[in-house]
Amino acid sequence: MTDFRVQQEQLWNQWAAHYNEEHQARDPAPAADFLASLADGGTALELAVGTGRIALALADRGVKVTGLDTSPAMLEELHRHRGGRPVETQLGDMAELDTGGQRFPLIYVAFSSFFFLMTQQRQAACLARVTRTLTPGGRFVIEATVPRAPGLLAGRQQLAIRDLTDTHLALSAHTHNPIDQTIHFQEIRFDQSGTRLLPVTLRYVHLSELDLLAAAAGLTLTDQYADWHHTPLDVTSTQHISVYTPTGEPA
Ligand SMILES: C[S@@+](CC[C@H](N)C(=O)[O-])C[C@H]1O[C@@H](n2cnc3c(N)ncnc32)[C@H](O)[C@@H]1O
Repeated sequence: MTDFRVQQEQLWNQWAAHYNEEHQARDPAPAADFLASLADGGTALELAVGTGRIALALADRGVKVTGLDTSPAMLEELHRHRGGRPVETQLGDMAELDTGGQRFPLIYVAFSSFFFLMTQQRQAACLARVTRTLTPGGRFVIEATVPRAPGLLAGRQQLAIRDLTDTHLALSAHTHNPIDQTIHFQEIRFDQSGTRLLPVTLRYVHLSELDLLAAAAGLTLTDQYADWHHTPLDVTSTQHISVYTPTGEPA
């Protein structure tokens, strides 16, 4: 049986040295502004914190952030860029979130990282632990792709050109299994120094399924947006930012 935590650790260890360069166009400021406004009491927990793209920007806004991740190499990158910022890290699996009794007014998981839990069971387990780790009235924020066709889900296989110059070619290849809602990617880079493979594997969750999983974990949806600027979600949205709060007992 696949150990999904180990699988993700191995994949993201391969990304670590390249992650910040690959995602340098993604400005973390809107996410950090959005999250800082919810971090009542000044602490936050990021699940799947990675290299700290958002956590470091949130810390710059005066929030003390704890970041959980399963990849030691990604966390090493975070520490290399942390400077004196108040960001602590914990190595672990978000399906088995355990903060030793510490609770947070804000827990968030960004950039579709909730999908890296890989099974519905692990996604449900994560949400149950989130509920237990929030302070009463706290907020859980999830940023994720809206699964939709045409696009990633349109076919069983796709190959796309991401970037093409005289010296560089970036391709993205993926296979899609609509039965278990999994997508396996390779981001492929060719340049004069050689070839690089950057793998991603995920289980996407439809919005209605997420609401149901959240309700089962004792979380209720309070707000939903299309982006970190609070743009209302509509049928054209490709991402969603969903905000949940604990309702008491799991359903
Ligand atoms: C796309 S990166 C996102 C990093 C960061 N949140 C950002 O927005 O740039 C996904 C991260 O999820 C982490 N991850 C995957 N599965 C995990 C799990 N089960 N528990 C904790 N972290 C996990 C990976 O190690 C990786 O650092």
